[in-house]
Amino acid sequence: KDMSIIGVPMDLGQNRRGVDMGPSAMRYAGAIERLQRLQYNVSDLGDIPINRPDGKDDKRDGNLRNLQQVAEGNQALAEMVDQEIGKNRFPLIFGGDHSIAIGSLSGIAKHYKNLGVIWYDAHGDLNCGETSPSGNIHGMPLAVSLGIGHEKLTNMLHYQPKVKPENIVIVGARSLDPGERELIREKGIKVYTMHEIDRIGMTKVMQETIDYLQERTDGVHLSLDLDGLDPSEAPGVGTPVLGGLTYRESHLAMEMLAEADILTSAEFVEVNPILDDKNKTATVAVGLMGSLFGEKLK
Ligand code: ARG
Ligand code: MN
Ligand code: MN
Ligand code: MN
Repeated sequence: KDMSIIGVPMDLGQNRRGVDMGPSAMRYAGAIERLQRLQYNVSDLGDIPINRPDGKDDKRDGNLRNLQQVAEGNQALAEMVDQEIGKNRFPLIFGGDHSIAIGSLSGIAKHYKNLGVIWYDAHGDLNCGETSPSGNIHGMPLAVSLGIGHEKLTNMLHYQPKVKPENIVIVGARSLDPGERELIREKGIKVYTMHEIDRIGMTKVMQETIDYLQERTDGVHLSLDLDGLDPSEAPGVGTPVLGGLTYRESHLAMEMLAEADILTSAEFVEVNPILDDKNKTATVAVGLMGSLFGEKLK
């Protein structure tokens, strides 16, 4: 199996510096070697260049912080992902803040009629300029993939929407803004909040997620935000929320995805080594990659 690693040192989708070092932190934690040991033919394509905004002030377009630079970086990522899938290689993307899912999904969804998305996250990332409390684009990528938001983002690679609402499953949600709740209700997006996970357990949640996506999609992208995990296990994130998924629940979820063999692309985002405790969060991320790509099956 051929795999391409793409780093995206993006920190402009939110306002805490350091998440641009996420790709280095995951490489340093041994990601490439770990995947090679699992018999992947891994090619590390390095990092996508991200242009900094000039001047000291954040450039805002409406309520969108750094829109121009976030759009440019994502455009480059989208083209790279599109190209790698064209070569039949599995794209594994290292963030960077979650705004990079805009580029990932733009490049990926071109290749599928019904792309499924598993959004493993404390947040819904379903805001747009009008609903966002922060103006941070990392809180918007899932809405953008539905065609909701600024046209510079929604129309990337000149098509939209990228994903249908019924092909999305959110896992681990516990911090949803009012506008996001409304959108979830309006579009009928499937969400397993921490409440459902506590109630029915991760085994059932993942089995239902896999069954649901398997019957309706022709490819599945995993977008894993490390803040889906509890901050005690993944402290190196910019927007931690108490009461998250455990290390064990997360490994179980990855192992079930490995067994089901449904994934066609993946990304690990929001690792911020500046806010971390001795690279713990990147190490957890790399461990999860091990499970996701079949460590327990070998
Ligand atoms: N909902 C909040 C916002 O829109 C937080 C988003 C956090 N997103 C993330 N990818 N960590 O600003
Ligand atoms: Mn999040
Ligand atoms: Mn809007
Ligand atoms: Mn997120």
